[in-house]
Amino acid sequence: MSDKKTLLIVAGDGIGPEVMSEVLRVIEWLDKRRGIPFEVTQGLVGGAALDAEDTPLSDATMAKALAADAVLLGAVGGPKWDGLPFEKKPERGLLRLRKEMALFANLRPAPVFDALVDASPLKPEIVRGLDIVIVRELTGGVYFGEPRGITPLPEGGFRGVNTQVYTTPEIVRIARIAFELAGRRQGRVCSVEKANVMESGVLWRREVQALHDAEFPAIALSHMYADNCAMQLLRDPRQFDVIVTDNLFGDMLSDEAAMLTGSLGMLPSASLGEADAQGRRRALYEPVHGSAPDIAGRGIANPLASLLSFAMCLRWSFGLDAEADLLEAAVKGVLDGGLRTADIMQPGKARVSTRVMGESIVRELDKLAG
Ligand code: IPM
Ligand code: MG
Repeated sequence: MSDKKTLLIVAGDGIGPEVMSEVLRVIEWLDKRRGIPFEVTQGLVGGAALDAEDTPLSDATMAKALAADAVLLGAVGGPKWDGLPFEKKPERGLLRLRKEMALFANLRPAPVFDALVDASPLKPEIVRGLDIVIVRELTGGVYFGEPRGITPLPEGGFRGVNTQVYTTPEIVRIARIAFELAGRRQGRVCSVEKANVMESGVLWRREVQALHDAEFPAIALSHMYADNCAMQLLRDPRQFDVIVTDNLFGDMLSDEAAMLTGSLGMLPSASLGEADAQGRRRALYEPVHGSAPDIAGRGIANPLASLLSFAMCLRWSFGLDAEADLLEAAVKGVLDGGLRTADIMQPGKARVSTRVMGESIVRELDKLAG
């Protein structure tokens, strides 16, 4: 095994390519200023892949993703490809990456930056200092469960079916990630399902509790129904440290948590596979914000979510904690210094382009690294 660090960048659609350019700037900085070279290859995903390769993710790109130490994704989708059949939708490219790389654990932190506390639609006294992570199961549940499909009914009309299904190993491995993560944070896990109406939820609750009792008794574990969790996130979000939940509830609750911060353009995510014997995991990092077709190509998108996703990559895939800390500190420094992209603009601050934001991060890195 060589110790070259390999990255596959799939910038995708909409603002994806614009924000990923700023990540490349930081990759270059790490090489030049810290002596940490990455071997970067690029590939197509989503609508960009559909246009050029007639598929939302080619087998060749899939193979590169499986071979890379980590994949950095921009965003997929846009109105241009909305009318396509299901198997051809840009989103299928992303779902294929998640499934074939077996990225079962999706980490979505939702921190409220002090400088942006007023951007939240909630009162500052409710969200100041908020720091939660949603750990979402990503390769199971209703997203992939069988049977699924739309079949005609004899009397006319159709029947649409999806299946919510979870097994003990699927629940245990995602719960373990949540407990381990909480151990490095505030030591609290809230497990979320609908055990009041779903058998898959009953099993979920039972298995999470059993793993806790057997291996993580020092973590404070609570259980909550998903609808209540949606409400509690608005009522008192700081009661949470790590929330662990299934694929569909995680999809919804992570959007809600993102909105608490008021700045979707700031939020990173990591999707991780099982660790191998050397402790290495397949991993994909992407901003939560999506392709934002309405502002694509104008150079005004916020690159900070992609940069913070790259910080997660440095930490989780390469153990470069010092560099991850530096990059996160640079983001904080630039915000404290008053620079804002359009999406997080506030009165009295300086509005900058995607590119100026990226350049400012690099300048801040220079400053912080001495
Ligand atoms: C997300 C997105 C995806 C999902 C879509 C684009 C398929 O909403 O990453 O949360 O539903 O998982
Ligand atoms: Mg979503």
